[in-house]
Amino acid sequence: MSYLGVNIDHVATLRQARYRGWEKGLPPEPDVVAAAELAEKAGAHGITVHLREDRRHIQDDDVAALRKVVTTRLNLEMALTKEMVEKALSYLPDEVCLVPESREEVTTEGGLNMLKAPRRAQSAITLLNARRILVSAFIDADLDQVSASHDAGAGAVELHTGTFANATTKRARLAELNRHRKAFEAAHELGLQVNAGHGLHYTNLADYLSAVQGVHTLNIGHGIISRAVFVGLSAAIREMLDIIAQAPAVEKDATANATPSGTETRAAEAGKARA
Ligand code: PXP
Repeated sequence: MSYLGVNIDHVATLRQARYRGWEKGLPPEPDVVAAAELAEKAGAHGITVHLREDRRHIQDDDVAALRKVVTTRLNLEMALTKEMVEKALSYLPDEVCLVPESREEVTTEGGLNMLKAPRRAQSAITLLNARRILVSAFIDADLDQVSASHDAGAGAVELHTGTFANATTKRARLAELNRHRKAFEAAHELGLQVNAGHGLHYTNLADYLSAVQGVHTLNIGHGIISRAVFVGLSAAIREMLDIIAQAPAVEKDATANATPSGTETRAAEAGKARA
């Protein structure tokens, strides 16, 4: 069964709507740390946050506070910049997901181009791996991107599911699922842990998991937080976990390349070293 990483960025988005630039000492709400604790209690296998360069939702102090309380896995999404690599090396999340970032975008709009600055990616990954952080590259479901991620030393890839989620015709959806299946196979063959995320929802997750079997972790945020407005965070997470549990039995073991297993994959190595 795939694991669920709950992205709590939008708990912070709600807080920032009222408390942007708040003075320390005020009790800004909603509290992202409380949200993370509740998410773990409801069964989330990990907590994901994106420390954006413009700090539009998650703040530096949030990451520090989350590092102290998250007992599952803390996954820090971040741009491939010197500043962010330094942040990760000080906060020591369990995982880092390298994402492309532009200040104008509403949300992450495409995968990171791992062919563009391979040496920069490689040196960042080396630094992070040395501190036992598993690095994943958030990429489009493209075979060259999978190879480039592997070549740069990533232990995992996260396949960008946005185009699948936004497809408006059955044909486009099937084409995307096909692309994802091929990318999954290629990444799995290379020993990479394969995650997926962006735009996954109660309405499209079952289709994705039927077509792309063996995904290690699904990172889901907006859909869960939106549902939580109506049913509460715990119920929203449990509903998503139910969908994951009902996914077809996986021929390939989803955790074959997982951390921390005994397998000699980079993902396992990073997990093992951390243990
Ligand atoms: N994975 C990555 C790398 C992301 O950037 C995001 C969005 O922050 C997500 C997963 C979650 O996407 P969504 O909020 O659409 O579920």
